[in-house]
Amino acid sequence: MTRRLGDTPRGGPVQSFFLPRGTARRPAIARAEGIYLWDETGRRYLDGSSGPVVSNLGHGNRRVLDAMQAQAARATFAYPGLFESEANVALADLVCELAGPGLDRAFFVSGGSEATEAAIKLARQHAVAIGQPERITVIAREPSYHGGTLGALAVTGDARAHDMFGPLMRAMPRVPAPLTYRVPSGHTVESHAKACAEALEAEFARQGPHTVLAVIMEPVGGLSSGASVAPAAYHEAVRQICDRHGALLIYDEVMSGAGRTGRFLAADHWPRGRPDLVTLAKGLAAGYTPFGAVLAPDRVVDAVASAGGFNHGHTYFTNPLSCAVAHAVVRETVDRDLIGNAARMGARLCERLQAIAASSRIVGDVRGLGLLMAVELVADKATKRPLPLELVAPARLCALALDQGLALYARRTSGGAYGDWVMVTPPLIIDAVGVDELAAGLEAAVAAFERELGASGVLP
Ligand SMILES: Cc1ncc(COP(=O)(O)O)c(C=O)c1O
Repeated sequence: MTRRLGDTPRGGPVQSFFLPRGTARRPAIARAEGIYLWDETGRRYLDGSSGPVVSNLGHGNRRVLDAMQAQAARATFAYPGLFESEANVALADLVCELAGPGLDRAFFVSGGSEATEAAIKLARQHAVAIGQPERITVIAREPSYHGGTLGALAVTGDARAHDMFGPLMRAMPRVPAPLTYRVPSGHTVESHAKACAEALEAEFARQGPHTVLAVIMEPVGGLSSGASVAPAAYHEAVRQICDRHGALLIYDEVMSGAGRTGRFLAADHWPRGRPDLVTLAKGLAAGYTPFGAVLAPDRVVDAVASAGGFNHGHTYFTNPLSCAVAHAVVRETVDRDLIGNAARMGARLCERLQAIAASSRIVGDVRGLGLLMAVELVADKATKRPLPLELVAPARLCALALDQGLALYARRTSGGAYGDWVMVTPPLIIDAVGVDELAAGLEAAVAAFERELGASGVLP
């Protein structure tokens, strides 16, 4: 008999918190290696989205496991308020070298939401330190995702989240993100992006430019926009607007950073849009430990340090064990040229996804950069009409993909108001054979979904 959530009187799986009572229970993970996961029944799944775009190195990487053990034998924890650690220094040196000039310092935390919080608080303390305490507003974009904690949600562009949690926080102003598939009528991708940059400028004026602390954005969209990639001119325009008004530009690279788009930072694709602060998480430690980072220029950190130091931290910030693990992850990423592999395999994956779209009735768009890709699902490719919202199409496609032995990631933004998509973001270690296997699994899942939609009359 299928086990269902709520069938144990106490305890039970964490899914009982976030899935409706009575939902069939998820397969239990038994082991994972390379790009595959196995459940307790011995079924194998290709990790087609690296979990929630985390497992850049795949699973069971020997070098990382050895580094983990070696550091654990040395010291698992030493409070940074009292001790330096070599693991911290080695990682900061390496990450800042890869990030390049202007991102000279690194502050390590335990995940993406913490990184968002730390970046905003650093920006605020910097403004105060340089004599601009009136800067109190972060302009964000809609749709966007910057984390689940209340400070990060305050800059997240998701109307549903704001309906529920808005009363608990000071929601920050949001301007449209330049989506590329559903551009308003009469616009091209470029003219829409230009209009979005103008909306940002107008928001500065509305707020009073001297009150704006920062702009926060995902340089390549994550889950919230399905890997949307804005034109270069937009990145440059945002940089210029921030410069004109003395606001910091924060790139949230929690999903796009650490090599996923074929560069160490997605920011590296647009040198003239260079951010002031960058957040990283997910691929930075690739799921081997909970981890994140804020990268910042000397001038910001020096100003804050001169004014008494960064007044922020969590118990586990910069813990030696996580730093050593992340160091091994980043070294492995560089030494095996996995960033180059992300670019090469990303091109192959893009071709395969476009072929699926060409022969499918419901794949309306394929987009992304490197191995940060997504496919958007529609009921009608000519009109881009979405599938009926109540079908929760991304979740259904993920379930059908799982039946094919392919694990994919999707979660709705703003209740699907901007469309529905599924992330296709395999580990950066994937090779051509893996990409083709992933594409075959996705094609079969899409075909199964089309048959279902045909049988229920949703597709003619
Ligand atoms: C772009 C972006 N920022 C921030 C976060 C929050 O990271 P975490 O879930 O590690 O707190 C996420 C998580 O999905 C993300 O995709």
